[in-house]
Amino acid sequence: MSATNREVILGIGAGIAAYKSADVLRRLQDQGFGVTVVPTPSSLNFVGAATWEALSHRAVTTQVWERVEEVRHISLAKNADYFLIAPATADLIARLASGRADDLLTNLVLASDVPKMIVPAMHPSMWLDAATVANVATLRARGFHVMEPETGRLTGSDSGQGRFPETMSIVNQFLTVTGVHRDLEGKKIIVTAGGTREAIDPVRFIGNRSSGKQGISVAKAAARRGAQVHLIAANVELENLDGILVTHVVTADEMLQVLNSSFAQCNILVMSAAVADAKPVASVDEKIKKAHFTSIELEQNPDILATLAPLKNGQVMVGFAAETSDVIAAAGSKLEKKGLDLIYVNDVSGGAIFGSDDTEGTILLRNGDQVPVSHQSKDTLANLLLDYALKQLG
Ligand code: CTP
Repeated sequence: MSATNREVILGIGAGIAAYKSADVLRRLQDQGFGVTVVPTPSSLNFVGAATWEALSHRAVTTQVWERVEEVRHISLAKNADYFLIAPATADLIARLASGRADDLLTNLVLASDVPKMIVPAMHPSMWLDAATVANVATLRARGFHVMEPETGRLTGSDSGQGRFPETMSIVNQFLTVTGVHRDLEGKKIIVTAGGTREAIDPVRFIGNRSSGKQGISVAKAAARRGAQVHLIAANVELENLDGILVTHVVTADEMLQVLNSSFAQCNILVMSAAVADAKPVASVDEKIKKAHFTSIELEQNPDILATLAPLKNGQVMVGFAAETSDVIAAAGSKLEKKGLDLIYVNDVSGGAIFGSDDTEGTILLRNGDQVPVSHQSKDTLANLLLDYALKQLG
């Protein structure tokens, strides 16, 4: 199960760590979760509703007396798949443990029986106080997942156990609690990223502006979801990609060569690299002087997807296209011609998306279904593509 179409209530307690939850919210969105933020009224002293509304693109209320016609303490509860309450103060934990319903967040917790994770953050003496210890034990006994705070320097000069953990350890633990991220366990996924370069001479090449961001997002998302990932990177600078096998290539021929020896063992191929359509017939070892640099004789590169399609033995192949006119029809015919199972098409007529963190387009499936993708991060699209690829894998 992936995070796409999964709804999270992100509860915010009145701790200074509330500002760190803005990052938690972003990272949950990257995973594909839809997030509604429900702060306690006093937490607004630290981070205001406007921040949460702007980041979540959703209305934010704190009391049952707002938007009464929506009966939000029930409608939000019905819609939620999970709760993440971060930071949770000693007071909020006490209210939850005694079943209070004195603001919207505590009402929601009572009205919903979905999995709930709590991330406490407070001064160590409050965390170790017998009342808090008992309240945490009560919540754990009722099935709440209560994360252990970290030990270290606090807001003041004190240190001890009570610190709000790093964003990714919260998110990773949340993914484990919700069980949404291991759905690609045992699957082998090859992802190509970047743009190939075809040498004209030792200093010049034919290339393109692909940043590789989308492919890297897919590789990271697949690895997070438990897949064994092989990233074939064409001319992109990579940060440290823990747990992902990376092969660097320069040209289309090199990319095809790597795929020829690895495609048979994979379950899913995500071909997000922009492959140069043509290469110089002869690349010369010496730099061509200006006077002779007047024309380049080209030959077509192999179509990598079309070459691999006949070798398919149950693999799901995902392609990409950027089109300027007749976008859906053009993508549909590429899907056919290249033997793809799904294709994501960007309409780039209004300006390029290269290098951007966001994307807008349509996923076309083999059965003709179209899934519009409007203004999503490339991370969200990565998870969505993996969802559909996994479905096609059966
Ligand atoms: N692709 C490929 N081999 C090529 C060119 C493209 O495998 N030589 C893959 C790309 O990685 C992408 C998909 O095919 O997933 C569509 O790429 P695109 O450049 O739109 O396809 P072309 O066949 O080059 O079509 P066009 O005539 O529009 O350039």
